[in-house]
Amino acid sequence: MSESFIFAHLSDPHLTSLRNIRVRDLLNKRALGYLSWCLHRRFEYRAEVLAALVRDLRCTRPEHIIITGDLTHLGLPCEFLEVKKWLHSLGPPSQVTVIPGNHDAYVATDWGRTFVHWLEYMVSDAGQDCVGKKSDTRTLFPSLRIRRETAFIGLSSARPSKPFFALGNVGQVQLQKLGHILAQTGSQGLFRIVMIHHPPQPGIVTWRKRLTDNRELRSLIAQQGVEMVLHGHAHRSSMVWLKTPAGHAPAIGVPSASATSRKSGYSAQYNIYSLSQDAHGWEVAIEVHGYAPKEGRFIVEGENRLAIPYPMARPTDVVTA
Ligand SMILES: [Fe+2]
Repeated sequence: MSESFIFAHLSDPHLTSLRNIRVRDLLNKRALGYLSWCLHRRFEYRAEVLAALVRDLRCTRPEHIIITGDLTHLGLPCEFLEVKKWLHSLGPPSQVTVIPGNHDAYVATDWGRTFVHWLEYMVSDAGQDCVGKKSDTRTLFPSLRIRRETAFIGLSSARPSKPFFALGNVGQVQLQKLGHILAQTGSQGLFRIVMIHHPPQPGIVTWRKRLTDNRELRSLIAQQGVEMVLHGHAHRSSMVWLKTPAGHAPAIGVPSASATSRKSGYSAQYNIYSLSQDAHGWEVAIEVHGYAPKEGRFIVEGENRLAIPYPMARPTDVVTA
């Protein structure tokens, strides 16, 4: 890689307004979700915070933006249209990648009135043989988008859950396809980033919000390897290390992109990644951008550097006599 590849990761913006929805939209689990929005969520997830984040992105100018789900509150068709407009304002589909979260699949919905509006931001690059049917999030994923030496691999863990639950599940079909994609992109020497809404490691969220097949996903990663996992859902910053054949890879979560929480680690943040490589491996510089309420803007709150080893011998490792 001649120069660093810069990309941004944000999650859980919950950017929609539920002000003009109809009573008939609130049957089933959505009635509870709407009550929660009225009492609490509309005060916590703020449009002005997200607007400040977008202004900051215009300064940091990443080449690519990843959004790991929960763009809506209740997964209503009108929310999908509102998000679509926001996505268009953020950037073209070739530069913005979206995967769904559990709020986007709050109840079982009609694809043609919901996810179809985000299709161009979720779909794989043309020509990738992993491309699934474009009429169902279960078969659309895993997605694969390759930008420079980076493979962005999207999973959908978004499933409707019972009231008071926010579970996720990848499922056997996606896991099987993911194994092939990790093997293929690993053999190409790409920096493999798996994007998933739910954290793959237990303990980051409560039992009722967990990824039910987290063990199977980690087992696959331990076999096939990955260079990084990016997720949301917990609404707080986190980093854990997952076992891979090359050693360990970080799984990094960000808080909600629009949250105004005063709890440490829960206020709005997003991460800017700068990826480079040398003969020994990848270097990842992470810049944490957080919302400063008094200034009404995002500021750099922290920096970190990680060294990620290559998964296999590379041409630069070959010693000739
Ligand atoms: Fe979530």
